Amino acid sequence: MDYKVADLSLAEFGRREIRLAEHEMPGLMATRAEYAEAKPLRGAKIMGSLHMTIQTAVLIETLVELGADVRWVSCNIFSTQDHAAAAVVVGQDGTPEDPKGVPVFAWKGETLEEYWWCTDQALAWPDGSGPNMILDDGGDATLLVHKGAEYEKAGAVPAATADDPEEWGIILDTLRRTIAERPGRWTETAAGIMGVTEETTTGVHRLYEMAKAGTLAFPAINVNDSVTKSKFDNKYGCRHSVIDGLNRATDVLIGGKVAVVCGYGDVGKGCADALRGQGARVIVTEIDPICALQAAMDGFQVTTLEDVVGIADIFVTTTGNFNIITADHMAAMKHQAIVSNIGHFDNEIDMAGLAKVPGIVKTEIKPQVAEWRFPDGHTILVLAEGRLMNLGCATGHPSFVMSNSFTNQVIAQIELFTKTEEYPVGVYVLPKHLDEKVARLHLDALGVKLTELTKEQAAYIGVHVEGPYKPDHYRY
Ligand code: NAI
Repeated sequence: MDYKVADLSLAEFGRREIRLAEHEMPGLMATRAEYAEAKPLRGAKIMGSLHMTIQTAVLIETLVELGADVRWVSCNIFSTQDHAAAAVVVGQDGTPEDPKGVPVFAWKGETLEEYWWCTDQALAWPDGSGPNMILDDGGDATLLVHKGAEYEKAGAVPAATADDPEEWGIILDTLRRTIAERPGRWTETAAGIMGVTEETTTGVHRLYEMAKAGTLAFPAINVNDSVTKSKFDNKYGCRHSVIDGLNRATDVLIGGKVAVVCGYGDVGKGCADALRGQGARVIVTEIDPICALQAAMDGFQVTTLEDVVGIADIFVTTTGNFNIITADHMAAMKHQAIVSNIGHFDNEIDMAGLAKVPGIVKTEIKPQVAEWRFPDGHTILVLAEGRLMNLGCATGHPSFVMSNSFTNQVIAQIELFTKTEEYPVGVYVLPKHLDEKVARLHLDALGVKLTELTKEQAAYIGVHVEGPYKPDHYRY
């Protein structure tokens, strides 16, 4: 088996944590039981690009139990839990000397070159073929396949320009190398893919842009916008893991501090709530009047970053947008202000601009925590080099909330793989009855007792007794 992880001897530790996580992931385990016989993913060759954590290990092993042949990478250079990666490679029946699990190419602390090498490896089966399904988080695997096919068609991979971020140059180099090794590979891979299921807001945004531009090569399910994903993982998941990230990185007391949360979408709502829960005075920035009004009515001060940049102790960006915190902002911050991002990509904080400040000095306090000293002597602490701090500095969301997200992922994979003709190229969300099913699978574990509609009540509000209970436009 080909794979590349940090240390297979960590597999037993990983397996013990996977066992605990399985109990906390009732949706995934119920899905395994439901499809144990039918194995609807038999024949699926799934390439996954999603944070290689313990929770993801339970997802991967669910896909395998449903019949899929899987290869995996992390979708961030810092988010891999090395014991989880080792356990997945070793598998339930293997040993570190004789691994029998799933090929994983991921370790904590990859360079960007290694990251894109890993993505390429997971997209290439040993027999030279590609995947027929992608399970993506942030869209990097989907991007590589699309760009590869695009440049093969154009006959050349363009050179990066001086204005391009460093990572774009690395992506272009990866494509140039792989196309030289096997011309036509990406066109063939794109043609063989039956669909992609996308995990997060940022990746979904990319998919809709491609669909609009007419460049999307295969159908996609937007898993993020299942209600049981974005209104749970993004919100309650971040409510848990933003504090975990801050604590493990800095252990600074949050109570009494001024915290600024940039963006009040699903992730921002969870983060602001958590910081307030710790006793911080939370200030929100927003560009959308609806979200700004929500933040105000939830009791938060809403203002611009410029207004409060010099008084805040903790900054968390949650926008999915770029250049939210600039080098000028960081120059104006208090001594030892904490600067962090929990959005998908690292460009929310201008790290390149920070590194270019004349006379700035960076000191690594510990992995994923850096102190940057400005020439005037004040410093700021930047977490995970501006990459998502909950996965870079802590272990991401806990199992129970990820069970909701990942049950949607598994259902979406089954939908695209088994009902291919029902999904022409385009971007879809799962039907509401499946969203309700995911929620239902998580009620018992929390001791929730649902009220059942009477036939008359159902008729009165115009739904079926067994659901769906809301129209598609309902916003929860
Ligand atoms: P969202 O679209 O619900 O929220 C983003 C908010 O930021 C919006 O309300 C938008 O109006 C606001 N915004 C945009 N530009 C802004 C600016 N310049 N200043 C202030 N506010 C601005 O998106 P969601 O679901 O909250 O996701 C946010 C990011 O977090 C995405 O990149 C997503 O992929 C990522 N994500 C990360 C997770 C993690 O575990 N770290 C989990 C889930 C999502």
